[in-house]
Amino acid sequence: MSNPTIETIKKRRSVRSYSDKQLNESDLNEILQAAVHAPSGMNYQTWHFTAILNSEKLAELNRLIKQAFAKSDEPRLQERGNNPDYCCYYNAPALVIVSNDPAQWWAPMDCACAIENMFLAATSLEISSCWINQLGTTCDDEEVRSFITSLGVPEHHKVYGCVALGYASPETRLKEKVLHQNTITIVR
Ligand SMILES: Cc1cc2nc3c(=O)[nH]c(=O)nc-3n(C[C@H](O)[C@H](O)[C@H](O)COP(=O)(O)O)c2cc1C
Repeated sequence: MSNPTIETIKKRRSVRSYSDKQLNESDLNEILQAAVHAPSGMNYQTWHFTAILNSEKLAELNRLIKQAFAKSDEPRLQERGNNPDYCCYYNAPALVIVSNDPAQWWAPMDCACAIENMFLAATSLEISSCWINQLGTTCDDEEVRSFITSLGVPEHHKVYGCVALGYASPETRLKEKVLHQNTITIVR
């Protein structure tokens, strides 16, 4: 028998096309509270969540990430960096940068727990979401770093992921999710 939590877990999907509608203050706070209530190794809670709801700042962040990509040796990243239509956060109205102290051994796992909590809280509030990884590889680019510092990301933190949040645009069609077989073993 299912319950609302399990239904929410199964309902959550990554959405990559958003309308302009912004989250209301109460929903945003619930989602950020879900993040800070996540488990963390040794209960260190060394993470930081920087929520950006300003479309100009988001566009500037995307521009700087693309500028960093354009400098890369990898053709795939160069292509993204030079593509005028590329938006790493899919034009979502809100983005939460999830960062942590890289010297703290549990940092990536703690961030992943907090990110999933945000996804599930968002899903339960009928808000769509997606993991956005592009700042993970570019957060130490000089110009990206200077900009995210100005937004409030602690200077010594690495970015482990970002959470795009918003309302799916009406034309969004999700591919059916096919679960891999034989990924579970139960030993009795
Ligand atoms: C660690 C991690 C990194 C991811 N990075 C991205 C990303 O940068 N951009 C993106 O569109 N989706 C990203 N995703 C979403 C996955 O592509 C998605 O979860 C997967 O295709 C399964 O689809 P579902 O989330 O709809 O179940 C990421 C997911 C995880 C767990």
